Amino acid sequence: MLMFYNLNLNIMRRLLILLSAVFCLLGCAEQQAARSVEDFNFEWRFLLGDDAAYATEEYDDSAWRALHLPHDWSIEGEFSKDNPSTPSGGALPGGIGWYRKNFVTPQGAEKVVNVEFDGIFMNSTVYVNGHEVGYRPYGYSSMSYDITPYLNPAGEQNLIAVRCDNSEQPNSRWYAGCGIYRNVRLVTTSEVFVEYSGTFVTTPQVSDEQASVHAEITLTNKGAADESVKVVNSIKNPKGEIVDSKISEITVAAGKTIDLATDLVVENPTRWDIDNTAMYELVTEIVNAEKVMDNYTTPFGIRTFEFDADKGFSLNGRNMKLLGVCMHHDMGAMGTAVHRRALERQLEILKSFGVNAIRTSHNPPAPELLELCDKMGFLVMDEAFDMWRRPKTRYDYARYFDEWHERDMVDFIKRDRNHPSIIMWSVGNEILEQWNSHSEEFESLPTEQRNLLLNYLGQDEDVANADEVNASVLLTRHMVALLKKYDTTRPVTAGCNETRPSNNLLRSGAMDIIGFNYHTQDYDSVKEWYPNMPFLGSETASSLNSRGFYLNPTNIVHQIPPRGQSYDTEYHQCSAYDHSKTPWGELHEEAWIAVRDRDFCAGTFIWTGFDYLGEPTPYTWPSRSSYFGIVDLCGFPKDCYYMYRAEWTAEPTLHLLPHWNWNEGDKIDVWAYYNNADEVELLLNGRSLGRSKKSATRLHALWEGITFEAGEITAIAYKDGKEVMRQSRRTAGEPASVTLTADREVIAADGYDLSYITIDCVDKDGNFMPTAMNQLYFEVSGAGELIGVDNGNAAGMESLKGSKMKLFHGKALAIIRSLRGQSGKITLTVKGDGLQEQSITVRSR
Ligand code: GAL
Repeated sequence: MLMFYNLNLNIMRRLLILLSAVFCLLGCAEQQAARSVEDFNFEWRFLLGDDAAYATEEYDDSAWRALHLPHDWSIEGEFSKDNPSTPSGGALPGGIGWYRKNFVTPQGAEKVVNVEFDGIFMNSTVYVNGHEVGYRPYGYSSMSYDITPYLNPAGEQNLIAVRCDNSEQPNSRWYAGCGIYRNVRLVTTSEVFVEYSGTFVTTPQVSDEQASVHAEITLTNKGAADESVKVVNSIKNPKGEIVDSKISEITVAAGKTIDLATDLVVENPTRWDIDNTAMYELVTEIVNAEKVMDNYTTPFGIRTFEFDADKGFSLNGRNMKLLGVCMHHDMGAMGTAVHRRALERQLEILKSFGVNAIRTSHNPPAPELLELCDKMGFLVMDEAFDMWRRPKTRYDYARYFDEWHERDMVDFIKRDRNHPSIIMWSVGNEILEQWNSHSEEFESLPTEQRNLLLNYLGQDEDVANADEVNASVLLTRHMVALLKKYDTTRPVTAGCNETRPSNNLLRSGAMDIIGFNYHTQDYDSVKEWYPNMPFLGSETASSLNSRGFYLNPTNIVHQIPPRGQSYDTEYHQCSAYDHSKTPWGELHEEAWIAVRDRDFCAGTFIWTGFDYLGEPTPYTWPSRSSYFGIVDLCGFPKDCYYMYRAEWTAEPTLHLLPHWNWNEGDKIDVWAYYNNADEVELLLNGRSLGRSKKSATRLHALWEGITFEAGEITAIAYKDGKEVMRQSRRTAGEPASVTLTADREVIAADGYDLSYITIDCVDKDGNFMPTAMNQLYFEVSGAGELIGVDNGNAAGMESLKGSKMKLFHGKALAIIRSLRGQSGKITLTVKGDGLQEQSITVRSR
């Protein structure tokens, strides 16, 4: 009987698959008609300025600048200490800007037209043909507007205008950018369609033999009549073959939105994992008597994971540490203007030193980042906010929180919840509602934040202290409940810099994972303070390093800025030996050892993977970008990169520091990061200076106070007494020329694709010149444009959008973008004061 039942089920399933294939064919033929997704980034006009007339069709914008999105106007401005963003916000201008674009109403009867914005920074208002379509304050939220009611008849012109207001600053603790900085699409469907972010795919049961797939689909009928439809849901495996299908028949009443649920099965599923990112797809087709009305694809993955209070994190049953980094959303010289390739390159660089997890600090990321994490195998802590009701800067999101947080949170979860890469949500970072009253952490907040909080506490501290269950505990529960209404398949955490159990977020009982920002000294209290709770370092390190800059001796640890004081030096750099840190942070080695040695600690999220614009701790003006990155703003590794590579990957690594260009007689500490070896020997001009090895608490080989003499130092790594690797640093002569290296020699002629060209200064013999700071001038000709230049100097004043840049410690970067539809050669020529001219050619096709 049971067998018969199974057989029947199998026959039925095959039949359904066949049926669905027929529908799919029908769907493919009608695909254009069913749902069209148009790239809406091209042919916009832009003006920095403000006038209500800019929303109207009559206004003549022909004198405005023509550009294509994504666009960040802030990065095009000059660094200035007078910009209201302050150095903490990147010291770049804000203001009010408008974008306008003409477009034709799509052909075809009964169309529904939506425009989807992945993010506009900030306070955006969208108008179509002079009608206000929507307003959104939070610059990190994605949104979709139904513009059908405002469109002119099919085939006629329309105007879309977008006002972005980022004039009230400071409103961010880091550089946030300005404008329509993420992608825009025009989506046209029939009157019955799958809503924006309208599917939710989960896998309630997963075994090697089978995975159950539960899909929830939200359908809307914008038509005037009820519509009876078949909804065909099919699963495609990673090879693109349909492996299961279900048909639901349903009537969607006119003007109504309904939810539909269906269950499917995948036999012998291939797991999504960080080294095998198998992606499945749920293909949803809505079919009525005559046609396919909509077709909608939801990529998803099949994986299991677990956070355990003793064993930490496991993915598909395999225990592993989360080797994570926190990332802000700028892409250096690109500003915040999202380029898929810029994000992909960031992830490639992070992967190269062993990173397997990303924290989207402290806001919802661009959707492309999550798509890339799915594809490239990163685990994600997806974070919603840097503040709730209590502000951290004068004009920040706290002003909008009461009115908007529900909408922003729900939209965020619905947009992101199908990504297999996301393994936890964070409801916020260092949310000030952690505290009721003063504490050491509270006292160490920057003065402005402290004053703002004091103001706020003035209003509610009595309420807060009156009850055991106070306003902030309730707010925490509310935030988590809101989130869990839309996803119960992932745990919730928050980055807390108040680690003690008096923390309102932690004592709310709403957290699934305890996340400490810094405070490694409290890691061993976790078991006592939070019994049976999984735990991780939600933010760690905040070590300070400038690429190529070294202070000796290295046994001095620089804790900068000293608590409560400002800090300044004439050089505005931080030594790259990993001996500078913030008072609240740890050196890279300390931060990693604390996590490495505790099995109950699920992992770490280093502050930060890349340097970012803004927050130039320990300095302020004229510094304008961060010193926290493991790689600099260009993506060039700092020395600590190699510590992680040695500890986090099996890639053979030997890295000797510092460079070997000093003054005769200088006393220099020499370090080497290495793996796969027992010890390292150091030679100076062929003479051995002895062997050194790492220990449980020191992750580098060390030779202290070596007296500099020009020539060459060489590190030789030995395994079982045999040499396995060697690396040398040679004293370089005067800067004579540059070498140019493109990360990609062929790029797509789509107006998006990028080639990053690294410029290295060399002496007349071709040795890398590590102290060169010469001025460079760039020229690009052919089928591309220069869209960014940088050198990684956090105190640099040259525009990152210009055509000149000084070398910084021997290196600089030029970023070239293809022109849409123009294939051919793109040549970059680099001239420099006292340097031989060089060029490089890449191809666009
Ligand atoms: C943390 C904060 C981060 C960043 C970092 C710098 O406390 O969460 O956003 O400000 O400090 O050390």
